[in-house]
Amino acid sequence: MTSENKKSPAGLIAGIIGLILLAGVVGLGLAKHLGDAGVESVQKTTGKAKIGGPFTLVNQAGETVTEESLKGKPALIYFGYTYCPDVCPTSLSIMSDALDMIGEELATKVQPVFITVDPKRDSVDVIRDYVGHFYPGMVGLTGSIDQVKKAALAYRVFYQVPATEETEPDTYLVDHSSITYLMDAKGDYLAHFSHGTTAEAMAERLRKYLAP
Ligand code: NI
Repeated sequence: MTSENKKSPAGLIAGIIGLILLAGVVGLGLAKHLGDAGVESVQKTTGKAKIGGPFTLVNQAGETVTEESLKGKPALIYFGYTYCPDVCPTSLSIMSDALDMIGEELATKVQPVFITVDPKRDSVDVIRDYVGHFYPGMVGLTGSIDQVKKAALAYRVFYQVPATEETEPDTYLVDHSSITYLMDAKGDYLAHFSHGTTAEAMAERLRKYLAP
């Protein structure tokens, strides 16, 4: 009988600690705003992740918008919600700063898009006020709970509305990934910017793509 067959108490404890640490890491991954770790790993395993796909939503004018409506122009797409206290406003400011930095001529070639993951509170009117605050011409999209679910799934965006939406309808926070996608004019994925990307870095990437 070899020693490997014996499980020492120390090894067992180490194993348990390992499991606890693993659970902690998984838990952190589901914290308020996810980075792009999930997307990266998908790309590594499949070579090219399929991001983007069919959806039907409603824009800030109350018009139906599908993935077809966004074709013809590269798009910067961000999923979030208007009640978000910090991360969403920061991400959208970075998007609009990057567009300012590349200059009007290039910026008009890109369609900035905000898609809510909180359609219950983000009505067409709420969305209209919100996107108007960030960038002229930014498209704001909402829809039914099912429509939003489908759109988020197409873009591999994680979000979770908490149970407190019923008891605290004005203050609940929505867990969601915080990634800005750059899609090409055909609606195919080109690049993504994780939370923390600076406006300068985003502008640089946009310039490279739009005016190589
Ligand atoms: Ni947010």
